[in-house]
Amino acid sequence: MIQGGKMLQGEVGVGGAKNHALKILAASLLFKSPIKIQNVPLIEDIFRMAELLESLGVQVTKTETNTFLVDAHRITKTQLSDEITKRLRSSIVLAGPLLARLGRVEMTHPGGCIIGKRSIDLFIEGFSRMGVICKESGGRYIFQARKLHGTDFTFRIPSVTGTETLMMAAILAEGKTILRNVAEEPEILALAEFLNHSGARIKGAGTPVITIEGLGKKRRLSAKKDARVLPDRIEAGSLLILASLLAKDVVIRHCIPEHLESLISHLAITGVKIKRGKDWLRVSRPPELKALSFKTDGYPGFATDLQAPFVVLLTQTNGMSQAFETIFEGRLEYIHDLNRMGANITLRDSCRAMISGPTSLHGREMESPDLRAGLAFVIAALVAKGNSTIHNIYQIDRGYERIEKKLQAIGAHIKRVTSGE
Ligand code: EPU
Repeated sequence: MIQGGKMLQGEVGVGGAKNHALKILAASLLFKSPIKIQNVPLIEDIFRMAELLESLGVQVTKTETNTFLVDAHRITKTQLSDEITKRLRSSIVLAGPLLARLGRVEMTHPGGCIIGKRSIDLFIEGFSRMGVICKESGGRYIFQARKLHGTDFTFRIPSVTGTETLMMAAILAEGKTILRNVAEEPEILALAEFLNHSGARIKGAGTPVITIEGLGKKRRLSAKKDARVLPDRIEAGSLLILASLLAKDVVIRHCIPEHLESLISHLAITGVKIKRGKDWLRVSRPPELKALSFKTDGYPGFATDLQAPFVVLLTQTNGMSQAFETIFEGRLEYIHDLNRMGANITLRDSCRAMISGPTSLHGREMESPDLRAGLAFVIAALVAKGNSTIHNIYQIDRGYERIEKKLQAIGAHIKRVTSGE
């Protein structure tokens, strides 16, 4: 429950990145000895991934707050649980290391947020090029390969999880793999750096072409140091957007401003002034916010995961803005709820929205459709006049660790209410 309209002040810290932690957990399957992972966010998607690994025979232990020890020396199964796979897109990432190590994976179609088709055709193309026989029947996949061999594969569309999955499969393949037109997200570079410290031979991560010298199926990785999850640039970016709307003076700590250059430059055009250090950002609401149009893109472009929070900001700017979602074809559905709060947004098509501002938002009852739109509703409710109730906050808990505590610490009137309370 949220009471809107309060200005915010103080310091807030950013947690570990969901989309980095999930991939390090998946990478544990490539190791012969346990790996320790620090700065793991305690969020629902991480718990689901841990359960999925445990169902394969992997031991996952939380040793201290935000630190996990993962021991995958013994794997007893290669079939992924349908129930979890349907909830978690990153289940598919396990297919890469599992195929490389055990030569077989059986799984249903991976789920996750309903924001578009979310096909896995690029994974199947890549696996096939590495010698995997891919069979599909009634939404179930069986991937099989006696051994994986290196290949030269060009992604038709850069895919984040596709890049990570094929990169990890190639580590234990025979020979050299070249992956072209890959995604360049910082989490991919950080994953490759950890894997290289542990014996992998990956070059070019963070650029459009990655080359991997395969070690062969018999070798396995061994960690020389703990893995550390990057600060979550999407959580940091969402807090930055919130602070641009409501901060008297807010400092966002434990973040990497360099990972947020695109958002920062967009905010600068709207009139927001941001001070920055190596791992912090300081912001306050300007007297007036100016409209601007934007489009989402792969990193270093404007992150699709920040699109919904940024649209909330644009409801408060002077003039007409356009949001163009270029990554997912179904990621603007939430705007209907913003309109019910008083926003003036028109859909030109399923990917383009025209936002006319500023509009005064009023609180209401809403259902969180997915995790990023769910947080956008929290931001909208904090800006709105009156009270809002947001249901289905499992979606928000999938990606943000106790977000209400962080927001309370900077003065937000938000509380978690269990049903029936
Ligand atoms: N695509 C295909 N075929 C494929 C794979 C992808 O057509 O086989 C398409 C997608 O439908 C989409 C485009 O390629 O249109 C790019 O999708 P991508 O594969 O890069 O997305 P993803 O790997 O499924 C990850 C994050 C998303 C984030 C996107 C884009 C994880 C677990 N998920 O998804 O995060 O939005 O990259 O940056 O890393 C979130 O955290 O809320 C979230 C949705």
